[in-house]
Amino acid sequence: MKLTVDGNPHDVDVEEDMPLLWLLRDELGYKGVKYGCGVAQCGACTVHLDGVAVRSCQTWAADAEGAEITTIEGLGTPDALHAVQEAWIAHQVAQCGYCQSGQIMQAASLLAETPAPTDDQIDEAMSGNLCRCGTYPRIRAAVKTAAAKLSEV
Ligand code: FES
Ligand code: FES
Repeated sequence: MKLTVDGNPHDVDVEEDMPLLWLLRDELGYKGVKYGCGVAQCGACTVHLDGVAVRSCQTWAADAEGAEITTIEGLGTPDALHAVQEAWIAHQVAQCGYCQSGQIMQAASLLAETPAPTDDQIDEAMSGNLCRCGTYPRIRAAVKTAAAKLSEV
């Protein structure tokens, strides 16, 4: 089964019903993708599948065949962070950090679809990404900062 992750081509031999989360973490070593609930309820495992945010714990390997996957490790680079990553640092969003790769991937997906989201649109888009540290006000502020930065380019 062929797929591309963060621009890297991979050819893996796995069961078609293996969760994409296991494929990414255990087979390919993309540990930036986090396991929270395993049942599509927390958002910690969010990645982009052909540019769309999905919960990788409830996406199957077969769905990823031939697809372009982007994880937090490929959203930007240390020298060229994605605007969302820059905004997350500027607002010091992360507390324990466990949920944050999923939060950032969800936010990047929101801004790709809705470049200037309202508070309600942000809250709606991010409502499925849980944060036990309660970083929601900072997440909302950071999404707005990232939206402003992206509107400049
Ligand atoms: S681990 Fe996938 S949504 Fe919680
Ligand atoms: S930063 Fe700790 S769970 Fe979100």
